[in-house]
Amino acid sequence: MEQPAVALVGAGQMGGALVRGWLAAIRKGGGLTLTVLEPNFDPALERELDAAGAVLNPMGGDAADVVVFAVKPQAFAEIAAAARRFIGPKTLVLSVMAGVTISVISRTLGVERVIRAMPNTPGQIGQGITAYVASSACAVADRELAEQLLEPLGYVENIPSERLMDVVTAVSGSGPAYVFLLAEVLAAAAEAEGLDREIASRLARQTVAGAGALMLQTGESATSLRKQVTSPGGTTEAALDVLQGAEGLGPVMRRAVAAAAQRSRELGRDADQT
Ligand SMILES: NC(=O)c1ccc[n+]([C@@H]2O[C@H](COP(=O)([O-])OP(=O)(O)OC[C@H]3O[C@@H](n4cnc5c(N)ncnc54)[C@H](OP(=O)(O)O)[C@@H]3O)[C@@H](O)[C@H]2O)c1
Repeated sequence: MEQPAVALVGAGQMGGALVRGWLAAIRKGGGLTLTVLEPNFDPALERELDAAGAVLNPMGGDAADVVVFAVKPQAFAEIAAAARRFIGPKTLVLSVMAGVTISVISRTLGVERVIRAMPNTPGQIGQGITAYVASSACAVADRELAEQLLEPLGYVENIPSERLMDVVTAVSGSGPAYVFLLAEVLAAAAEAEGLDREIASRLARQTVAGAGALMLQTGESATSLRKQVTSPGGTTEAALDVLQGAEGLGPVMRRAVAAAAQRSRELGRDADQT
């Protein structure tokens, strides 16, 4: 599709990150024609969209090639009524709403071609990973278009079955919180060992951020980078003996991910019944 007509519903954190990436493509002379529905625009984004010729909060509207839903899941049912004017027989729906299943989206909007995606918060700076699953009615071209539209958030991963979205949610969707918690508990441990709170926080924060950046930039596996810091009989090994012990990080993370996946299943079931 040369210049797909895209309607974005909700330009908050995620929708804003997406549309900023699309604007960059539009400025380079390619991309898409854009309509955005958002009751509470960030003024700078509104100006940028205006300058790029996007249509903002129109009263009417024609069927779009793609309608992207980036509103809170609990608002979807109400917003769907207002967004239906952008849905035609050929419209593809792309959703980044957590926990809203393909069947709920299909039923609510009367569409068959649905792509359900799960981004994560680093997507706000283009460093996220978004996993998506496509309904069986989607063609290869639909998936390619969805991938292009999701790219401003970072990496994009196709998941073969919607059932696996609960695990995805538990790993990459919720995962940034586990990493932030690591920075918090590392800082607390540093403070307990005698460091000033501010220094402890800076050391922990930059260690987590720097280790992540090193993993990205070198492309080396986490295992290989861990081994590079660990000399036999040294300080890191003493800590890893605790972290990799029977009650260490492995079993704790296994339980944490299982709990998050289970909660995602429960929320999905509740939402399907409403
Ligand atoms: N943020 C994340 O890291 C993340 C990760 C994974 C999935 N998601 C999913 O992404 C979706 C959006 O999350 P978010 O963090 O970007 O939320 P958000 O910042 O609250 O963005 C939602 C936007 O939709 C707007 N909105 C409300 N009613 C509307 C309407 N009738 N028509 C058009 N827009 C309307 C909201 O405006 P008001 O502020 O005025 O209500 C808000 O700007 C959610 O479904 C969430 O599950 C987010």
